[in-house]
Amino acid sequence: MIPQQNDAPPEPSPLVGRDCLTLAEFSSAETNLLLEEAAKTKFLQRSRISYRPLRGRTLAMVFQKPSNRTRVSFEVGMYQLGGHALYLNPDEIQLGKRETPSDTGRVLARYIDAIMVRTFDHQELEELAAAADVPVINGLSDDHHPCQALADLLTVREEFGELEGVKISYVGDGNNVAHSLAIACALTGAELTIAHPPGHAPGPEVVALAGTLGAAPTLTQDPREAASGARVLYTDVWTSMGQESEAEERRENFVPYRIDEDLISLATEDAIFLHCLPAHRGEEVTAEVIDGPRSRVFDQAENRLHAQKALLYLLLG
Ligand code: CP
Ligand code: NVA
Repeated sequence: MIPQQNDAPPEPSPLVGRDCLTLAEFSSAETNLLLEEAAKTKFLQRSRISYRPLRGRTLAMVFQKPSNRTRVSFEVGMYQLGGHALYLNPDEIQLGKRETPSDTGRVLARYIDAIMVRTFDHQELEELAAAADVPVINGLSDDHHPCQALADLLTVREEFGELEGVKISYVGDGNNVAHSLAIACALTGAELTIAHPPGHAPGPEVVALAGTLGAAPTLTQDPREAASGARVLYTDVWTSMGQESEAEERRENFVPYRIDEDLISLATEDAIFLHCLPAHRGEEVTAEVIDGPRSRVFDQAENRLHAQKALLYLLLG
C-alpha cells in the first residue's frame, strides 16, 4: 500500500470512478478487496503511518438528515488521506428543492472529485449519481446504508477471522441497515437471518437482489429462532429517520424484538452484539447488552472510518 523505492508502479484500482449506492455495484472479489484495503488502512492508522494518496482531492458531503458517525468519519478520513471534505448541511443544497438532483450532481462534479450523499429518497440519489461523472457514495438513504455494511463486515471479520459461513442474525426493522447487510452478506458468504415484526419485512426486491448476488437472507418473525446459534446479533433503532410519525406504533409492536440477555443467551458462547448506532437503550437493546462484554458497537463505529477511507482511496484512485 505504501510505495517503496524500487517497487513496481502500483496497479490502478479496479474501482476507480465507480459509484457506491447499494454495494451491489461490486462483485464478491471487489467487496473482499474493499475489506482487505480497510484492514490495511486501519493498520496504518493504528501504526501512526501517514499515507496521503488523496492530496489535493476533494469530497462534497451532502446531508439532508442528521449524522454523527457518517459526517465525522468521512471528514476525518478525507483529511487523513491528504484531501479535503466539504460539509453541506440540509439548508444549503436542499436536494430536489432548489434544483433537480441531476443539476446538483452535474454542478458539484465540476468542482470536486467525489460526492457523498445522505438523503431520504434513494431515487434522488440515483438521479444525482447518473448525472455526476465523479464517484457518488451513499451515506444513507431510506433504502440503503452501504458504508455501514462495510464497517459491519470489517468488524465481524476482525472478530472471527472470516466471513464465509458466519451466522449473523439481524433482529428488528427490515430497514436500510438490514438491506445493506443482506447485500453485503450475499457478496461475502456470511449467512444472514432477519427476524422482523409483522409488516416490517425487508423489501422483497432487496431480498431477491441478495439472492442473485449470492444468497437471500432467511426471513422469520421469531427472534428466538434467529438468535439460536448466531455468532452475531445485530439490531437497529425501531424508528428510522423520516418515520417519526410511526414511532408510537413501533414502540408497541417491536417489544418482542428487543435484544436482551435472555435473547443473546441463545446465541453461541463467543457471539458478539452489533448496532449501527445511534442506539436507544431500553428500546431495541438493553443497557446490559450494549454496554456488556459481547458488545462491539464502538469498534464497529470506528470501522466506519477505516472502511470509508478504503472506499475513497479505491474509488478515487
Ligand atoms: N450509523 C450511522 O450512520 O450513524 P450517523 O447517523 O450518526 O451517521
Ligand atoms: N435505520 C437508521 C440508521 C441510522 C444510522 C435510520 O435510517 O435512521
